[in-house]
Amino acid sequence: MQHTRVTPVRSCRVCGADDWHTFLELGRVPLANSFVTDESVPEEIFPLALMSCRECRLMSLTHVVDEHDLYDHYFYVSSPSRLIHRHMEGLAKHYRGALDLGADSLVVEIGSNNGDQLAKFQPHGCQVLGIDPAQNITAQARDRGVDTRTDFFTEEVAKSVRADRGQADLIMARHVIAHIDDLHDLVAGVRELLAPDGFFALEVPYLVELINRRAFDTVYHEHLSYFLVGTLQRLFQEFGMRVVDVAGFDVHGGSIVVTVAHDDSRHRTNPDTVDARIKAEADAGLYRDDAYDGFADIVDTLRASLRASLLDLRGEGLRLAGYGASAKGVTLLTTSQVPPGSLDFCSDTTPEKQGTLIPGLGIPVVSPEEAAEREPDVYVLLAWNYRDEILAKEADFLERGGRFFVPIPEPRLVGAEELAAAAGRTVSTGARS
Ligand code: TYD
Ligand code: ZN
Repeated sequence: MQHTRVTPVRSCRVCGADDWHTFLELGRVPLANSFVTDESVPEEIFPLALMSCRECRLMSLTHVVDEHDLYDHYFYVSSPSRLIHRHMEGLAKHYRGALDLGADSLVVEIGSNNGDQLAKFQPHGCQVLGIDPAQNITAQARDRGVDTRTDFFTEEVAKSVRADRGQADLIMARHVIAHIDDLHDLVAGVRELLAPDGFFALEVPYLVELINRRAFDTVYHEHLSYFLVGTLQRLFQEFGMRVVDVAGFDVHGGSIVVTVAHDDSRHRTNPDTVDARIKAEADAGLYRDDAYDGFADIVDTLRASLRASLLDLRGEGLRLAGYGASAKGVTLLTTSQVPPGSLDFCSDTTPEKQGTLIPGLGIPVVSPEEAAEREPDVYVLLAWNYRDEILAKEADFLERGGRFFVPIPEPRLVGAEELAAAAGRTVSTGARS
């Protein structure tokens, strides 16, 4: 059997310093997207812990798993969520307007997955190119007509794309740079490929939101880095670029879209978003160690309370099942030491996940149709980032007396009484803030 390679992180992938403050140990955990298809193969587990760079305040995992082991065959398919589609549509519209993109424009996406985001530019005549290492998912993108190259994005790949297609007016990277160890190579590639007045639009989960929402379960081996705006500003400055705008969105547990341009481009930096965010980060103490120690205490308390609440529900004789076999769920359940048998099964819409077992827990993943037949008393909402959308979709289950256990920011049971409020929120979420 081929063993997965794992390496301790020494120097900071943003600033190069090696002065780390390690503040949260989550134990040894399996890879969150390594859904089990063959029970006879023993599962490997790897250390999962967080540290903060005292120089630039990058938050990083302490260990990195080799990228080929994580991504060559990848289970994560961009969700069929309406909220996310609306968000992608909004981004496409925003950048088309801001850059006046048209028939001669080239939009490149790093980590383009099944091509959902790029497809939003095609009706407007833009040329598109996706770059993504997952063979199975890039094949799906090509099948639907989104030109996609199966590769990791590197400076070398950027040069070859530039030679073939010219420079890009817009480069997007949504929820991907947290997955990349060699950030300097990535940013050098962006600098190479980006047209003089182009934009690099980077979407990341926002570290401030992760802390505020106590979203410790978004920590897993694929997410190497967690960013403040100040840390990103520092990264791009080293490469002759600057952050010109920042917008917050209520997707994936609270994300920011950071717009980056060449230093000498025509674009002005927006102080009301960029400088204001960095100041707020400093005011919240996030450039000091103690804020992270405080967060670790909160997470330890939350993990204990998640375990106790689920054991209590089970003790009352209620049948529990998971809803959404998310990667987050693996961190949530394994690091809270929830006994593996606590959930009978987990419902998930992703065909690739159905028929597998959740890593480390042995919980069978079933289709929503099968889940409806085996309906539990309580669904543990492992995809809490889609809470309102899922509550609305499962209105019948709630009306019949079913309940959802929402784990984050603190354990809470919700029933039909929450429906009206959730419906109100889905109208307003995804908006710029
Ligand atoms: P997601 O939050 O997208 O990501 P991560 O794995 O990064 O934590 O995972 C959500 C999972 O939930 C995904 O496998 C799809 C599934 N899902 C459903 O089963 N039903 C739904 O209605 C939605 C929105 C997602
Ligand atoms: Zn650093």
